[in-house]
Amino acid sequence: MGKPPRVILFPDSEGMAGVLLERWAVTATEAIRRKGHFVAALSGGKTPGFFYGAMAAKKNLPWEESHIFLVDERYVPEDDSDSNYGMIKRRLLSAIPIPPGNIHFISTSEPRPEIAARKYEERIRDFFGIPPGSLPEFDIVLLGMGRDGHTASIFPGSPLAEGSRFLSEATFDSAGRPRVTLTLPVINNASNIFFLVIGEDKAEAVRKLVRKKDPAMPAARVGSEKSEVLLLVDRGAAMLLDTGEYERYPPGR
Ligand code: 6PG
Repeated sequence: MGKPPRVILFPDSEGMAGVLLERWAVTATEAIRRKGHFVAALSGGKTPGFFYGAMAAKKNLPWEESHIFLVDERYVPEDDSDSNYGMIKRRLLSAIPIPPGNIHFISTSEPRPEIAARKYEERIRDFFGIPPGSLPEFDIVLLGMGRDGHTASIFPGSPLAEGSRFLSEATFDSAGRPRVTLTLPVINNASNIFFLVIGEDKAEAVRKLVRKKDPAMPAARVGSEKSEVLLLVDRGAAMLLDTGEYERYPPGR
């Protein structure tokens, strides 16, 4: 379990998207300069849709050299309203000039989620050129957090909250619905980890996350000495924090 995340409070979603887009652009440019490509893993759910829309509208991002993976997926068809890939495709991928081969989604048409998880793991290993036992290093992992403190598809009480020897695993959400998810070791090996958390209903989970009140909470397991964890919140999500526990954007606001 890493150090507490750095928390930045935003007055509105435009400011949050602007800062994250700037971080994205700088990280992508540096990664492409250093290794010829940039690779990010994106979460689904309701929160990040606004950010994906802002990213789709931003010109001059280096999509030719950018690769997009999914942090997790609900095991439903792409056209299901719950599909993370379906949402990311609608809000972002269909609106940007990214080569189809640069999009690495989680298949949900395998006979069983476990097969999809193994195939996703193979795809990750092939892309990063890593043997079994090695971890991929994503340049950015973008996470959300549920009211219960889950992140990715790692839910409270799941053995995945203790880690995994796999890169991706089949699991279930708290209602028993099948999911496929990146595992904690993969998430924690990323160079940059961003949480986007919005809304008063997340305030208690944010308080626990920042104060590491509940080490068993999956989102509290995110972080390592290696990667900075940045938690971007709005006023609602930050309402149970003390003023000393977050920075404001714009500064001094
Ligand atoms: C998912 C996400 C999940 C999400 C949280 C928050 O597939 O649901 O990957 O981890 O980030 O559940 O979801 P909301 O943004 O909808 O609150």
